Amino acid sequence: MCGISGVVGMKDISNALYEGIRSLEYRGYDSCGVALMNRDKITVKKNVGGVEDFFRKENVLRIKSKVGIAHTRWATHGKVTKNNTHPFQSQDGNFAVVHNGIISNYRDLRTQLSREGFKFDSETDTEVIPHLLDKYFKQTRNVETALIKTLHQLEGTFAMAFISSHNPDQIICAKRESPLMLGIADGCMYLGSDFNAFIDYTKNAIVLDDGEFAIISRDSYIVKNYLTRAEVTKPITKIEWDSESSKKGGYPHYMLKEIYEQPQTVTNSLDIQSELLDEVVDMIYKSDHTYLVGVGTTYYVAQYGQYMISSLAREFLPSLSSDEFVSLSNVTKKSLVLAISQSGETYDTLSALKFAHAQGAQTAAIVNVMGSSISRFVDKVILQGSGPEICVISTKAALSQMIILVQIGLKLALKKKVINKQQMNQAMSTLREFPGIIEAILNERSGFIHRIANAHYKMKHWLYLGRGVYYPIALESALKMKEVAYVHAEGMPGGFLKHGTLAMIDNEINSIVFIPPKEDKKLYEATMHCVEEIRARSGFVLGIHFDERGKNKNLFSEELILPKVSPMIAPLLQLVIAQLFAYFTATSLKRDVDKPRSLAKSVTVG
Ligand code: AGP
Ligand code: GLU
Repeated sequence: MCGISGVVGMKDISNALYEGIRSLEYRGYDSCGVALMNRDKITVKKNVGGVEDFFRKENVLRIKSKVGIAHTRWATHGKVTKNNTHPFQSQDGNFAVVHNGIISNYRDLRTQLSREGFKFDSETDTEVIPHLLDKYFKQTRNVETALIKTLHQLEGTFAMAFISSHNPDQIICAKRESPLMLGIADGCMYLGSDFNAFIDYTKNAIVLDDGEFAIISRDSYIVKNYLTRAEVTKPITKIEWDSESSKKGGYPHYMLKEIYEQPQTVTNSLDIQSELLDEVVDMIYKSDHTYLVGVGTTYYVAQYGQYMISSLAREFLPSLSSDEFVSLSNVTKKSLVLAISQSGETYDTLSALKFAHAQGAQTAAIVNVMGSSISRFVDKVILQGSGPEICVISTKAALSQMIILVQIGLKLALKKKVINKQQMNQAMSTLREFPGIIEAILNERSGFIHRIANAHYKMKHWLYLGRGVYYPIALESALKMKEVAYVHAEGMPGGFLKHGTLAMIDNEINSIVFIPPKEDKKLYEATMHCVEEIRARSGFVLGIHFDERGKNKNLFSEELILPKVSPMIAPLLQLVIAQLFAYFTATSLKRDVDKPRSLAKSVTVG
């Protein structure tokens, strides 16, 4: 949640700071602010709203400066108001601070500081930080010591950065649990919540670890541990993503661009080193229990994995939502926790992994963002290579994770001799056909999907129904609709309908049913029963199926017929359709597609 960006250089840095914070806007976008140093005076500008508007209205690009920090907020404490927007200054104006995370003991600190005479202008937890820096600087006359004393007072999570008139050529930052990295270039240094903040300027990054702080100036940096004050030698990470892939191209929204990138990202998932997947399969094989964990979309990806691995390898790996993991799992030294996370920063998922690690369990993860906290925490990481996913709504990352889980299922099946080498090769060739099929569907069917979405965008309630592995597909598809279109959508197993929800069927609720290909006879027939149940009550059904045209005449209210594909990829193809359906519904409703209200791309708070 929230983006932090910083630049310290030889020339005027306002534009680089603007580019940096704009690239992080997907992390949080309630309000935006900057602090810029001019000689030893700090100018702070801030306001509610998006980055572009803010920079234009406040004329930020006109302010000359060589050192500056910026922040785009996703409020956790205090409403979205100008006063609650970062940066926050100390009373004497000599410190300006931005922060990502939650200072959990802020109430106590605030009471104490108020007693000492410090005045608070905001409702945030963050504002205690500049006052503490100010207080300790006055006691010690040393910025670094003031920082260390401040950090010792803070409980909770933070990635924070500040500039100070006392050391006007530097940006100082520190991290505990929320992400922060440095970009290293010649004559200019950058700071960012992730690589996107500076990928246009440098591909050399340093990822800060918990308990570290850094002092950066235009041609040097130093990283230290704030408990020991010892200097830490940090490795330079080479960013492999290219900066063009984080631009919108000719697409109106990142969401659409990312849906259309799926043929490529699925190919990338199929090209992942086979030995790496074997190592994870070996970990599953040797463990007593393997849990699949994720949250939001990645929980549905985990559920999908649970169904696929169960049917391919006859192995039940329970999927749990990471936020419930600690309450429900029974992790031992012989367990393995396989987490799934696009950002690699999700607090709930990282906490589940930390919990598992503390019990002595093994950990592994499928992650998209290299250098992220989860990718560095686990015993074994599979980097999925889907490139930057900028839209808050996950599409390409999720589909690619599913492809990785299918491969894990197949490899486990081979290891357990549930399938033979020939069956494995056949399944892999089927998966290799999938990128071409997605491409054809996107090219040929998006107009039709757009038309259906346009015809029904006013409908306020949708039921998404699927059985077996189509159930997690229904759940994920419904989540797309909720988060991008703000339309109520409920994913449900088809068989569940008659146990209650059928009572809801009338002309104010539409249903989408994910129908398997006929080869999956039992599942097909059972799914068709729920279509009949809804139609018998005059409910609207959009059937997404693989039957011939005219076969189900009059059964569906609308139908979307897909070409015949293998049952292994059928549900995944339907997911692509559902992504587009949610997208077009959102555009018909004129939603802010890439930055839906109240959400943020990486949820680094619990
Ligand atoms: C995806 O569309 C959602 N915005 C959200 O549910 C997301 O999948 C979840 O927060 C997990 O994120 P992660 O994959 O980065 O861990
Ligand atoms: N807790 C701080 C606030 O509400 C920081 C939130 C963020 O990470 O954007 O302002």
